[in-house]
Amino acid sequence: MPTKPAPATDLAPDTVPDTAETRSTVRALLRLWPYVRPVRTRLGAAAVIAILASCVGLVIPLVLKWMVDGPVADRDPAGVWLGALYLLLLGLAEALLFGFRRWLVARPLAGVEAGMRADLYRHLQRLPVAFHDRWASGQLLSRGTTDLMLLRMFLAFPLTFLLVNGVTILVGVGIMLVQDWTLGLVILGPAIPVMITCGIFEKKYSAVARRAQDQVGDLTTVVEESVLGIRIIKGFGRHRSQARAFHELSHTLRGTELRKARLLAAIWAVIVTLPEVAIGAALVVGAVQVADGALSAGTLVAFLSTALALRWPVESIGFLLAMSQEAATATDRYFEVMDAEVEADPAAGSRAAGAMGVPPLERSREWGRVGAAAPSSEQRAVPEVGTNAVELQGLRFEHVLFRYPDAAPDSPPLLTDVDLHIRSGESMALVGATGSGKTTLTALVPRLHEVTEGRITLDGEDITALSREELRSMVAVAFEEPTLFSATVGENVLMGAGAGAGEEELDRALAVAQADFAHALPEGTGTQVGEQGLSLSGGQRQRLALARAVVGRPRFLVLDDPLSALDVHTEAAVEAALRQVLADTTALIVAHRPSTVLLADRVALLSEGRIAAVGTHHELLRTSPEYAHLMSGLDKPGDAEGPQERDGR
Ligand SMILES: Nc1ncnc2c1ncn2[C@@H]1O[C@H](COP(=O)(O)OP(=O)(O)OP(=O)(O)O)[C@@H](O)[C@H]1O
Ligand SMILES: [Mg+2]
Repeated sequence: MPTKPAPATDLAPDTVPDTAETRSTVRALLRLWPYVRPVRTRLGAAAVIAILASCVGLVIPLVLKWMVDGPVADRDPAGVWLGALYLLLLGLAEALLFGFRRWLVARPLAGVEAGMRADLYRHLQRLPVAFHDRWASGQLLSRGTTDLMLLRMFLAFPLTFLLVNGVTILVGVGIMLVQDWTLGLVILGPAIPVMITCGIFEKKYSAVARRAQDQVGDLTTVVEESVLGIRIIKGFGRHRSQARAFHELSHTLRGTELRKARLLAAIWAVIVTLPEVAIGAALVVGAVQVADGALSAGTLVAFLSTALALRWPVESIGFLLAMSQEAATATDRYFEVMDAEVEADPAAGSRAAGAMGVPPLERSREWGRVGAAAPSSEQRAVPEVGTNAVELQGLRFEHVLFRYPDAAPDSPPLLTDVDLHIRSGESMALVGATGSGKTTLTALVPRLHEVTEGRITLDGEDITALSREELRSMVAVAFEEPTLFSATVGENVLMGAGAGAGEEELDRALAVAQADFAHALPEGTGTQVGEQGLSLSGGQRQRLALARAVVGRPRFLVLDDPLSALDVHTEAAVEAALRQVLADTTALIVAHRPSTVLLADRVALLSEGRIAAVGTHHELLRTSPEYAHLMSGLDKPGDAEGPQERDGR
C-alpha cells in the first residue's frame, strides 16, 4: 500500500547527489557533448547569428548619437527621417536574425532530446532486474520526461545566450569606454559584486534544484502507484490517506520550488538594482559633464542607450544561470541511470546487447530460430540415467548459492546449496513453503538474477557461457504475475515466438493454454488488452501468459505457479493440454497444489535454501513429512493421490 512514500534518497539509493562543493556545473554539462556533437555546426551557426543580432542592437545607440549630434542639432528634418529609417532597418535586421536562430536550432534540439530519450529507454531495458528492484519507477520516469525537457531548454537558450550575452556585454562595455571612459568606469562599478552574487547563487541554487527534481520523481512514483493500485486504494477506502500522502509530498515540493523562487528573486534584485544605480550615477555625472561642455549631448544619449541596451543581457544572467544549474542537475540524474552497468554478456562479445536490449521483433526472430531448431521428440525422450552424456543433458543446478544483491551483507543466503538435475525431456515440480525462494530459483534460469556461487547448465553448457539472447531463446518463462502489454492478444502471445510465427502457432498456443476465450473477444485475437485495452480476469491473463510461454516451443520451460488463478475445471483443462507440451520440453514448474504437482514427472522440495528431497509425488508423500504437510490441507489427500494412480506413475 503506497501510503508513505519514502524520501528521494530511499527511493533511488544510488542517486545520492554530490555535494554542491564537489560538483562542477560545467563538468556535468560537458557530458552532453556526445549528444550535441552531431548538431554542433547548427548550434555554432545559431550562436554566431545571435551574437550578430545582439551587436546590430548595439549599433542603434551609435545611430542615435549621430542623429542627436547631427540632424537634430542642425534641425535637419531629412536627416532625422533618414536616421529613423536606419533605426527601423536595424531593428528589423535584429528581429529577423533572432528568428533565423530559432529556426536553426529548433529541429536539431528536438532531435537531441529524442535521441537521449531513446538511449535512456534502451539502457533501461538492458539494465539488470536487480537495478529495477532498487529504483522507484517514478524516478526513472521523471528522468525520461522532465529532466530531458530541461536539457533541451538549456541547449536552446542558456547555452547560446550565456555566450551571446557575455559577448554583447563585453562589446557594449567596450563601446561605452570608448565613448567616455570615466562614465564607463562608473557603469562597471557593480561588476564585481554582481559576479560574487552569481557565484554564491550558483552554489545554493544547485542544491535546491537537485532536491526539487528528486521530489518530482517521488511525486511521479506516488501518482504511478496510486493509478496502478487504484482498486486497492478504493477497496480499502484509503483514498483520503493516499490524497494526504500526496498532498504532503506536493507541499514539500512547493516549499522547494518557493526556495528556488526566493533565491532567484535575491539574485534578480542584486542584478537589477546595482546596474540601475550605476546607470543613474552615470546619468548624473554625464549630465554635469554635458553642462560643463566636456561631453556632447549625443555621446551621453549614445552612452545611456548602450547602457540600457545592456540591461537585458545582464538581467537575464540570473535565470540563465538558474536554467543551467537545473540542466546540470538533470544531466547528473540522466547519467546516474546511464552509468548503471548493464548486464555483462561475455559470451555475446560484440552482441553485448542482451536479449532484453534488442527490439521485440529482433528478439522474437531469435526465438523463432531456436524454436525451429528444437530437438526432435526422440532427442527429447527421457534418456537412461547413468551415462556421462546423459548426466550432462537437461537442466542442472550445481551447488547454487544465491543472495539478493540488496540483502544485508551479513544475512544468510536465500539459497544456500541447491543441487538439482532435471533430465532432458523431464518435467520437475518445485514445491516449498511460501517465501522459501521458489520464484527466485526460477528467475536464475533465464539469468534475471545472477547466481552468487555455483552454476546452472543447460544441456551441459553453463548459462553464463551463453549469450543472453541464446539463453532466453532456449528458455521460456511464465511468472506468477502475468503481465500483458498494451497490444493485441495476438501480439502479446506471439512475443514468445519467432517473427515468422502466425495464426497457426497462435491458435495452437491458445489451445494449449485453454485460452480459446480469446477468439470470443470483441475483435478476436486482434482485441487490445493491457492497460489501455480490455481488462481481462486474472485467470484469463494467466492463460495468455502461459500461451506466450509455450508458443515458441521452447526447449526449456520455466513456469512459476502457472495455474494458481484458474478455477478447478479450467485448471483441469489447462493441465490436460500442458501435459502434451511438457512431454516435449524440459520443464521446471513451481507448484503449490497437488494437481499441478501431478503434471510433473518428479518433484523437488525446496527447504531452507536447499533441495531437501527429490522423488515422485508418491514417494515424497511417504518419505518427507514436510512435503506431506505442504500438500495436505491444500487439496484433499485422496485427490492428491488419485490422478497419479490414474496416470500409472
Ligand atoms: N528483489 C528482492 N530483493 C530482496 N529480497 C527479495 C527479492 N525478491 C524476493 N525477496 C525475498 O526472497 C524470499 C523468497 O522470495 P520468493 O519470491 O523466491 O519466494 P517463493 O518461494 O516464490 O514464495 P511464494 O510461494 O510465496 O511465491 C522472500 O523472503 C522475499 O522477501
Ligand atoms: Mg513465488
